[in-house]
Amino acid sequence: MKVLGATPTRNLALEMARVTEAAAMLAGRYMGRGDKEAADQAAVNAMRLILGTIDMDGVIVIGEGAKDKAPMLYNGEKVGNGSDPKVDVAVDPIDGTRPLAFGRSNSLATVAVAPRGTMFDAGPFVYMNKIAVGPEAKGRIDIEKSIIENLKAIAKAKDKAVEDLTTIILDRPRHEGMISEIRRAGARIRQIPDGDVAAAVMTAWPESGVDVLLGIGGTPEGVIAACALRAMGGEIQGKLFARDEAEQRRGREAGYDFDKVLTMDDLVSSEDVFFAATGITDGELLQGVRYYGDHITTDSLVVRGLTGTVRQIIATHTTDKLDNLSSIHY
Ligand code: FBP
Repeated sequence: MKVLGATPTRNLALEMARVTEAAAMLAGRYMGRGDKEAADQAAVNAMRLILGTIDMDGVIVIGEGAKDKAPMLYNGEKVGNGSDPKVDVAVDPIDGTRPLAFGRSNSLATVAVAPRGTMFDAGPFVYMNKIAVGPEAKGRIDIEKSIIENLKAIAKAKDKAVEDLTTIILDRPRHEGMISEIRRAGARIRQIPDGDVAAAVMTAWPESGVDVLLGIGGTPEGVIAACALRAMGGEIQGKLFARDEAEQRRGREAGYDFDKVLTMDDLVSSEDVFFAATGITDGELLQGVRYYGDHITTDSLVVRGLTGTVRQIIATHTTDKLDNLSSIHY
């Protein structure tokens, strides 16, 4: 799309950073307290409050689940103040609820926004098999091919040996076969306990040292990662994964195809996409929230698809000023 001479337009990702910052500041209070539900509720409350202030007519496409199960930010909920633009909104108030609840690293608050009707609606399907890479290997992956073939293609695209590649994969028993295949190919492996949104983003973050994300993780996380990678110039492909026969059957009845390769365009079909994430606990991508009594610091990543601009925002929030203005106490 040629927009030469056009006036620069609004970067919603900058506004989304306020949403993820608020979620991280509130949820960060629950680090190590062993209460996943309370942490999640805190993040959701904060996100919803700030989302409501933003000039947009948003619908939650990826949220906290069906309305009766989730009191807020449920799929289909309207967010924003109702003025244009009309957008789809995907939220993961905490990616890495367990690590946060047990005081471990790499939990994030994330939001993605794209024009209305452009994000994949995953329905009730929880898991997706994924392969994700950064810009250098974009266009070279194929989830239908074997892991070894993909690793060879990625290595070639990055002008290095398969042995030099670092793969990242969730540490789950379901990945035993994949891990054996990666070992046979000779690539290095980082097994992570949780957090495959951060892992996908790391493939497009050169300093992370991660070349490819492989394996089965959450479908919502897959759509959010697709928004981030679309904006950062990387690529993700997915395939819905049914845990059993009954889920397969329900999926087929609802018109979902578990054999279909979900390309970047299926997961988010617009380039005009925005992604923001704020670290809650310390991670490789972002630092966690720090509380200093009179102020709080946050570290966020803010990405815009149309321009490809990636910003890292380190913010200092003055607690008593926020307390005077806000209905929530950070
Ligand atoms: P939540 O913190 O939202 O529960 O997700 C953590 C996570 O590790 C995701 O990053 C990942 O996609 C998913 O869980 C994997 O699911 P499971 O833990 O069931 O294997």
